[in-house]
Amino acid sequence: MVSTHPTGVQHSGSQYLPQRRDINANPSPNQELLPLTARVHNHDSLEIAGCDVTTLVEQFGSPLYILDEETLRSACQQYRDAFKQHYKGESQVLYASKAWNCLAVCAIAASEGLGIDVVSGGELYTALQAGVSPNKIYLHGNNKSREELVLAIESGVTIVADNWYELRTLVEIAGEQGSRGAGGAREVNSPSSSPSPLPIRIMLRLTPGIECHTHEYIRTGHLDSKFGFDPNDLGEVFTFVSQQPTLNCVGVHAHIGSQIFERQPHQDLAAVMVQWLRDAGKYGLNITELNVGGGLGIKYTESDDPPSIEEWVKAICEVVQEACAVENLPLPKLLSEPGRSLIATACVTAYTIGSSKVIPEIRTYVAIDGGMSDNPRPITYQSVYRAVVANKMSYPLTQTVTIAGKHCESGDILIKNALLPKTEPGDILVVMGTGAYNYSMASNYNRLPRPAAVVVANGEANLFLQRETYQDLIRQDSLPERLKI
Ligand code: LLP
Repeated sequence: MVSTHPTGVQHSGSQYLPQRRDINANPSPNQELLPLTARVHNHDSLEIAGCDVTTLVEQFGSPLYILDEETLRSACQQYRDAFKQHYKGESQVLYASKAWNCLAVCAIAASEGLGIDVVSGGELYTALQAGVSPNKIYLHGNNKSREELVLAIESGVTIVADNWYELRTLVEIAGEQGSRGAGGAREVNSPSSSPSPLPIRIMLRLTPGIECHTHEYIRTGHLDSKFGFDPNDLGEVFTFVSQQPTLNCVGVHAHIGSQIFERQPHQDLAAVMVQWLRDAGKYGLNITELNVGGGLGIKYTESDDPPSIEEWVKAICEVVQEACAVENLPLPKLLSEPGRSLIATACVTAYTIGSSKVIPEIRTYVAIDGGMSDNPRPITYQSVYRAVVANKMSYPLTQTVTIAGKHCESGDILIKNALLPKTEPGDILVVMGTGAYNYSMASNYNRLPRPAAVVVANGEANLFLQRETYQDLIRQDSLPERLKI
């Protein structure tokens, strides 16, 4: 897949640039390797949204996450528009913010009309602080704490109930809230006129028993999963919920896994979920929302071939519409909650190359100034990434090297067998497709400060996550008096 120059020399960079197939092409971000605004300028330099990557690193430091606003917005719009075009009922796309939960990303997604899926009190708090409307926030989780549930209830967000323990806890909390009167458990300084949090708006998460081909750790729809109610308990769950005046069950939810390239599992899921809708009616529940989860894959390497956002949405809409027609059911409000396919391709991580080690006949290691702390996916899931050298975009690809992180761990390898131009210390290595599950899973392993993140648009770069400092690293430390030396 590497482009070959007329001289017969392989050239880097350009083969990864977004493919503008024709002037009106609206590339699906999840089918590209680099952000949509990536260009080579001055022959050798990579720019994103009109910002020179090497200059960004000089300005904001290294490593640096660079988020292309246009690519993220375009993915949001493509999801939204595809549902409008292919679904005759109401629809709502939620951004699965576990992919990257922070104020700026939540705000961009919400400004495109998306709701936000959160999975913890921390993600919920962040989404609320970003100004996201509570009626577009959905709280997930297989073991939500009482505090998280109370925060969700009092904020007025929808809770996706995962299990019996949670349902009973919700009924219990509702009882306490009810006996205290509307808004009784609110903070002292919150407005007393705020609406009653009862009944609690919930959805039910069920395990659909659908297998899909993805990494074992990111598969959730098969029956042996920690998430969701067993579908064999469906009748019992519906009966229980229909008898609770403090619970307002509006829909059903399922999620079958992540980084999925086939359309069939989601189509099967949609068909199964319509059966659940039908069954809910038999138990006196009027369910009007159906959430098919996320899971559409992205292109991390040239050989990855996911369907486009529009193709994926269309496939699901068709099945839901057909199944509802067969069952003679009104169309539910259709929700989906993509994470990776919204944000992964929009971001690259820029690193500075430092040391290298040549082991003759075996391998050449080229080390960068980050690694498993800013991108834990290769060591966790054996994920494969592609990289370019931002200041050598047109240089011939003359070496196959292994990109090593700087952590004290032999497995801290970002890319095995990367085809690159000859590199030197100070070159800027850009790893592509790092917007999803990189910052959000980043750690301070070896006490490395987390990198900064900038959002780029129209030649402008704005910091949205500051680089951590050494002071930040010891902020939560305390040294008990008797341990002082
Ligand atoms: N909804 C639910 C309930 C989920 O659990 C997930 C992802 C999503 C939506 C979004 O799925 P996506 O569209 O991003 O595939 N850390 C792993 C991925 C874990 C996914 C967890 N759940 C990784 O780095 O590959």
